[in-house]
Amino acid sequence: MTFEKNILCIGAGYVGGPTMAVLARKCPLYRVTVVDIDPVRIAAWNSDELPIYEPDLKEIVRATRGKNLFFSNDIPGGIRDNDIIFVSVNTPTKTFGVGAGMAADLQYWEKTARQILQHSRSSKIVIEKSTLPVKTAQAMENILQCTNSSISFDVLSNPEFLAEGTAVKDLENPDRILIGSRETESGLKARETIEDIYANWVPREKIIKSNIWSSELSKIVSNAFLAQRISSVNAISALCEKTDADIIEVAKAVGMDSRIGPKFLNASVGFGGSCFRKDILNLVYLCRHYGLSEVADYWEGVVKINQYQQERFLLNMMTAMFNTLTDKKICLYGFSFKANTGDTRQSPAIFIAGRLLEEKAEVIITDPRALSNARSDLAGMEGRISFVEDPYAAAHGCHAIAVLTEWDIYRRLDFRKIFDGMIKPASIFDGRNILDHRQCFEIGFNVYPIGKPPLTHF
Ligand code: UDX
Repeated sequence: MTFEKNILCIGAGYVGGPTMAVLARKCPLYRVTVVDIDPVRIAAWNSDELPIYEPDLKEIVRATRGKNLFFSNDIPGGIRDNDIIFVSVNTPTKTFGVGAGMAADLQYWEKTARQILQHSRSSKIVIEKSTLPVKTAQAMENILQCTNSSISFDVLSNPEFLAEGTAVKDLENPDRILIGSRETESGLKARETIEDIYANWVPREKIIKSNIWSSELSKIVSNAFLAQRISSVNAISALCEKTDADIIEVAKAVGMDSRIGPKFLNASVGFGGSCFRKDILNLVYLCRHYGLSEVADYWEGVVKINQYQQERFLLNMMTAMFNTLTDKKICLYGFSFKANTGDTRQSPAIFIAGRLLEEKAEVIITDPRALSNARSDLAGMEGRISFVEDPYAAAHGCHAIAVLTEWDIYRRLDFRKIFDGMIKPASIFDGRNILDHRQCFEIGFNVYPIGKPPLTHF
């Protein structure tokens, strides 16, 4: 069978994998190949146990794999055989040298650019899918155009806005598709080619086009705005705990203003995930680079409040438990950074577990999907840690439960049964405000929500 278009994606991670699976599903006439340097990851994509969990993803991969969706380690071959190349490699925060802890580590990105140059035998459209600092596309262009060959490259920015846990839904029905390009003749033509791909399932009015720098910046700014809402509500949750206000009531009242809106106003132990912190720190770094220190400080505040919220949660636990956590058994309900994913990157649970261990508490962790990631996140940390699948068994014999992820199953547990198996006084620290606090209190727990007065029997 000959395909209408041959599309490659370099990077088979949380963005590349699901995005290409949905693309293949929506466009049966396109051949979609996903390549990655990691053979284990590719083997997993080719097996029944996909390397990531996303609702509905397995079914989509099953329906397309081997037909018009292929996973492979052959990066040079992929580059040679495809003229449209999405790049979705990881861009972690730099851990060394200039900009350590702030700037994006672009080494994988640059290596990919050089590989594309080395193996291309025909002109290509190269599309940035990873979230990158503004002006990265330019660096890519500079690398791709550094030889005198007749092959030309158009570099575009097409950021992905999907959220984990709802990836398939977000990809099938996105709020918008953003395509940034150079405003040259060939840049505009390349932009049209990518627009036509999405138009297979996304209404044209949702596909917006911009210059390449606006596109790159829009992605970082979208994440900064989302995270800023959470830090704003979390900052106010601290004030609510000192007064008699209730953050849920305040967030509801505030969110009903149609200019503000109700989403992303749930107070929590803090935001996690691979993007928010990294993208904001990038933004901060960028602003400092351009001498905009007030702007940088403003956005840095979002990250600082997030750290403060996690530390505050830990200190609240400590105060409630008579100022010592030494030898106390604390059960963590949830370890992933949010519900419906096994991903634990930047999860507040890592910080909380680490701090509890520092205080010499014994930590018991339960999570429906994230236990294997939790094990590797905490490997090397000193102290008593155990991992238990069943939430009832996990809490048995504990002094306290800290709810760190908003998994639905935790709402439906039999807290009477859990209470009976715990050491008294038994406490619940609800870092997600998902439990029925009054009911837990009546069962006998001391209950400490976020941003609401605690319910205690003292
Ligand atoms: C985010 C963006 O939503 C997405 O557009 C971008 O492409 C990648 O980054 P994701 O990291 O999957 O997606 O998670 P998201 O659903 O945005 O949640 C981030 C964190 O904020 C989670 O830890 C979540 O639990 C927390 N959160 C979210 C809150 O604490 N309160 C809220 O009201 C909403």
